[in-house]
Amino acid sequence: MEYWWINRLVCPVCGGSLTKEGGSFACSGPRRHCFDAAAEGYVNLAPPKAAGGGDDAGLVAARTAFLEAGHYRPFAERVAALMRTHCPGGVLVDAGCGEGYYTNHLASGGARVFGFDLSKRGVRHGAKVAKRAELPALYAVASVFQLPLADASVDGIVSLFAPVAEAEFLRVLKPGGVLLMAGAGAEHLLSLKRVLYDTPRPNEAREDLPRMMRQLHAETLRFTMELEPAAIQSLFAMTPYFYRTTAEGHRRLAATSHLTCEAEMDIFVFQKA
Ligand SMILES: C[S@@+](CC[C@H](N)C(=O)[O-])C[C@H]1O[C@@H](n2cnc3c(N)ncnc32)[C@H](O)[C@@H]1O
Ligand SMILES: [Zn+2]
Repeated sequence: MEYWWINRLVCPVCGGSLTKEGGSFACSGPRRHCFDAAAEGYVNLAPPKAAGGGDDAGLVAARTAFLEAGHYRPFAERVAALMRTHCPGGVLVDAGCGEGYYTNHLASGGARVFGFDLSKRGVRHGAKVAKRAELPALYAVASVFQLPLADASVDGIVSLFAPVAEAEFLRVLKPGGVLLMAGAGAEHLLSLKRVLYDTPRPNEAREDLPRMMRQLHAETLRFTMELEPAAIQSLFAMTPYFYRTTAEGHRRLAATSHLTCEAEMDIFVFQKA
């Protein structure tokens, strides 16, 4: 077992570096803070009271089912290819990793990856899959705004449909390190929205692009998905529309037996100077 995360992972209380002692992570600080690893291998390094955000069982189950069925696989492959190009051989962070679908995809391609998310359920699932497949991925419950990482300790960060914490990303990236961020493009899931709403609107461009980093690349990835009822419902449950749709919209979607639906992801790659 290679402890590639040594001298990178730090104590969320005092900032001392963490090492593994049996089933726990212990810090090098004078107080020797100790964090027990769960059976699945992940550890809780969240700031006090922060854990539990986005920890919705139904949402996690829906996203797991949809992603593991491979419907977003072209996106996972594109993200991995871009990271291989811009950050070859590097240690990566999946910031807001959810259930670790992309984290484990990156790790199965040979990258060493931290998966951080405030959702314990998500992190637990990612860790379980990584442990079974013996992937070089280390999961922790942690906030992207307070990463349990040393300054300038990682080569790349991916932020996929997740909050971007530019100042914190700049702190943990090495000079020349890269940030790949991706989210919904203008027409992402438009066909799903056409079933739900009478006048669906395109998604707005995001306003949280980094201001202190250099943009290396931008693209829009488009592909089409053929979805059967179970996948349609999982996809719906993992979108924000699930909570904003009328009962009539829910009924119309439940009566949909097949949906040809476009996926459109805006992907950006930035570099720390
Ligand atoms: C839309 S999901 C995307 C998850 C995953 N990247 C994916 O694409 O499947 C957004 C994720 O961000 C996480 N999240 C939100 N705020 C966070 C924060 N401050 N720190 C860490 N994770 C956060 C949520 O728990 C959730 O898992
Ligand atoms: Zn400590």
